[in-house]
Amino acid sequence: MTAKLLHTLPSDLDQARLPRHVAVIMDGNGRWARQKGLPRIIGHRQGVDALKDLLRCCKDWGIKALTAYAFSTENWGRPTEEVDFLMILFERILRRELAEMCREGVRITFVGDLASLPTSLQAEIKESMAATVNNQSIHFTVAINYGSRHEIIKVCRQLAQAVQIGEIKLEQIDEALFQQHLYTSGEIDPDFLIRTSGEMRLSNFLLWQIAYTEIYFTPTLWPDFDRSEFHQALLDYQGRDRRFGKA
Ligand code: FPP
Repeated sequence: MTAKLLHTLPSDLDQARLPRHVAVIMDGNGRWARQKGLPRIIGHRQGVDALKDLLRCCKDWGIKALTAYAFSTENWGRPTEEVDFLMILFERILRRELAEMCREGVRITFVGDLASLPTSLQAEIKESMAATVNNQSIHFTVAINYGSRHEIIKVCRQLAQAVQIGEIKLEQIDEALFQQHLYTSGEIDPDFLIRTSGEMRLSNFLLWQIAYTEIYFTPTLWPDFDRSEFHQALLDYQGRDRRFGKA
């Protein structure tokens, strides 16, 4: 069966045990392009197509949340032309895909330090979030200028300040309150995290949120991560015994 034909959930997957929230670290766009003798930016373009298809696939198969790591706080260290290209690419995608996201019932939100992004990108972000806020098919979260340590420190500062001004007592700080101050507040933690391209690290992504997440590494480069690769990943996920630290 070709990847394109898998519009309904493959029969060897159990609908009741699908992850409710999938997160992806989309790695390998540059290597994919290099292997084909193409510029890195072509790899990023192809990566967008892979992401679009994964989003549609999650929706088709009944997965209610997808979070994708599009740009980390460390990615500013890339060559200026690549960073500029990515910022323009993000902006274009949002403009180009908004109508379709609305049609397909996608609610899009963004996590990260958005205030430091180009103002034109911030405007597209704001518009796409406002336009899709009531959509219910799937919640698509895009991490842009995101770094988990930065997020955790931001929460610490907010809570410390709340204690300082007497808004809360020190003893009131617990996991639930901490969670409410994360960028991801309101969404359940990912059940399943996928990283492509053979790299086996977390790269400062959702460190708090993935405490009990199942992690899957695949050597496949992100632009080649299609529905059949996702199917394989989900079979692996369904073969795991999630005990959350219990016996
Ligand atoms: C990692 O590959 C990929 C990125 C840094 C960018 C990924 C972004 C997208 C696919 C666009 C998503 C956008 C939106 C707004 C929905 P790499 O460059 O690190 O590859 P390499 O490790 O092979 O060099």
